[in-house]
Amino acid sequence: MGPIGPGAARVRNAEGTHVGHAEPAAAVGHRLRATDAAWDMQVKKVGRNGLVSSAIGLGGLALTGAYGRVEPAESFRTVGHALDLGVTLIDLAVPGAGGARGTVERLVGKAVSGRRDEVLITSCGGPARPERSVEASLRRLRTDRIDVYSLHLGGTARVEETVGRMARLVADGKVGSLGLCGPTAGQLRRAHAVHPIALVASEYSLWDRRVEERLLPAARELGVGFSACRPLGRGFLTGRVVSPEQFEPGDHRLADPRFEAGNLAVNRKLLPAAEYVAAQLNLGLGRLALAWLLSRGDDVVAVPSTRSRIHLEMNAAAAGVRLTPELGASLAAAFPAQAVAGGGRRRPP
Ligand SMILES: NC(=O)c1ccc[n+]([C@@H]2O[C@H](COP(=O)([O-])OP(=O)(O)OC[C@H]3O[C@@H](n4cnc5c(N)ncnc54)[C@H](OP(=O)(O)O)[C@@H]3O)[C@@H](O)[C@H]2O)c1
Repeated sequence: MGPIGPGAARVRNAEGTHVGHAEPAAAVGHRLRATDAAWDMQVKKVGRNGLVSSAIGLGGLALTGAYGRVEPAESFRTVGHALDLGVTLIDLAVPGAGGARGTVERLVGKAVSGRRDEVLITSCGGPARPERSVEASLRRLRTDRIDVYSLHLGGTARVEETVGRMARLVADGKVGSLGLCGPTAGQLRRAHAVHPIALVASEYSLWDRRVEERLLPAARELGVGFSACRPLGRGFLTGRVVSPEQFEPGDHRLADPRFEAGNLAVNRKLLPAAEYVAAQLNLGLGRLALAWLLSRGDDVVAVPSTRSRIHLEMNAAAAGVRLTPELGASLAAAFPAQAVAGGGRRRPP
């Protein structure tokens, strides 16, 4: 973060006290490039295992239909447009194996064909038969390597054995690096002792900061990069989710306690303080939520998912906003994650 420049926006809290600055990217030495985007994608060296990724990636979950009907042609264009915007991470570590995930893997394989080297692709599987699951993903993606293969260890006690099997896939060149999905800090340490883990993926956003207690510190200590899943709180942090009645049947959020009508009403009361900060910075709430995540450290990238090019552009533009540490801290204080109703219970994928 460079010094506060003349372009910095002053930010005050609701009482009018000055709490920090936010810098437009141009004021901190970012090059503007001659594309349709008025900002430049930040590139981060994520962790100490050689992974380099755009600060904002593209998550694949919305493309599976998890959050409403998908229009395949728009999904296809969204993936291609992500590459145009400088997105170099596509996270397909989503539930659904050969079904929903398989469909998105096929779509992404087609959309990035001819541009495969521009992007890192992550996929995932469980501890049972990871070799078969990698082969199936390779076929669907029409590629000869998965850049990061993330294991869902779940409650398995066979961490070392599973990671050892995955290490052989790395040695064979079918997998570039290993990742873990939603591990405990203990599982991360055990896995990393067997083979370097390049990336750990877990839910992390303004409204769910539980990873800050143990997992993120462990990842930092080990030099493992962090992929913030559900960075927009499954859409909640855009301010657009008003009632569960707006969800289509089958929407995954219908099974998430945070979106039950009573809890959602409580949770929406937490939004205005963050909206106030966003308004002062002339940003949408979603962009502020993503910029906040990026301000958590050089090792954190965010993978919001979307079905639309418009939302993709809004999200990617968060890479052009740099929040100062003071502003990041005051935003965290203004949005008390521990007050989120339904947030403490275990959530479905
Ligand atoms: N490995 C794991 O265990 C795991 C688990 C969960 C998630 N993840 C990763 O995290 C990624 C993201 O998680 P997620 O999809 O659950 O949650 P999310 O990215 O926080 O939210 C996605 C939701 O936000 C909406 N949205 C996106 N951009 C928007 C914008 N600019 N304005 C308004 N609405 C917007 C999307 O709808 P539209 O389609 O209408 O834009 C969608 O409903 C997943 O794709 C996956 O890669 C991994």
